[in-house]
Amino acid sequence: MRVGVLVSGSGRNLQALLDAEAAGRLGRARIAVVVSNQPGVLALERAARAEKPTAVVPHRGQPSRQAFEDALLAALAPHGVELVVLAGFMRILTGHFLGRFPDRVVNIHPALLPSFPGVDAQGQALAHGVKITGCTVHLVDEGTDTGPILAQAAVPVLPEDDHGALARRILAEELRLLPAVVAELSQGRLVREGRRAWIRP
Ligand code: GAR
Repeated sequence: MRVGVLVSGSGRNLQALLDAEAAGRLGRARIAVVVSNQPGVLALERAARAEKPTAVVPHRGQPSRQAFEDALLAALAPHGVELVVLAGFMRILTGHFLGRFPDRVVNIHPALLPSFPGVDAQGQALAHGVKITGCTVHLVDEGTDTGPILAQAAVPVLPEDDHGALARRILAEELRLLPAVVAELSQGRLVREGRRAWIRP
């Protein structure tokens, strides 16, 4: 299963996917291309170091969201991508893009959705004083972090936590969960009943 990874930043989740592939822990998934909407980010360096094809598709300067998404689709197309993984990709995709990959776009989010969607999920968790947060891998729909949930991992919020400490504890779970779900998706069958989705081995 050929995977396109979309990134915007430091690419720690991308690195976890690259490491899992190199270690034979990504099932039948193969990272075929890494596409960033931001030039010059560390994620692109990580991809290049792993000798993966990369592309930069800036969202700035595009005449419309549809034009941006057409450029993303054009960057993925030559690589025969079958699954798109959003690994710290900080743009919302519309039906124009998603319709090309039905139930084949997944995202990692640093909270137990449906709590704390959108930006700074860790800060939202601290502000609400929740005692448990975590991370979620979900199918992407047109909402902001609203698609059917595939897998979650819980993380305690400790009294002494600041933003950095909590973000690091959540990230450790993200780096484990995302490659595990991609491996499962590459080997199993996605079952979907309404909002409920799971992977059957
Ligand atoms: C990760 O914590 C990811 O869950 C989050 O951005 C970070 C990217 O880090 N994504 C979102 O908040 C998406 N709504 P990375 O680029 O080092 O993997």
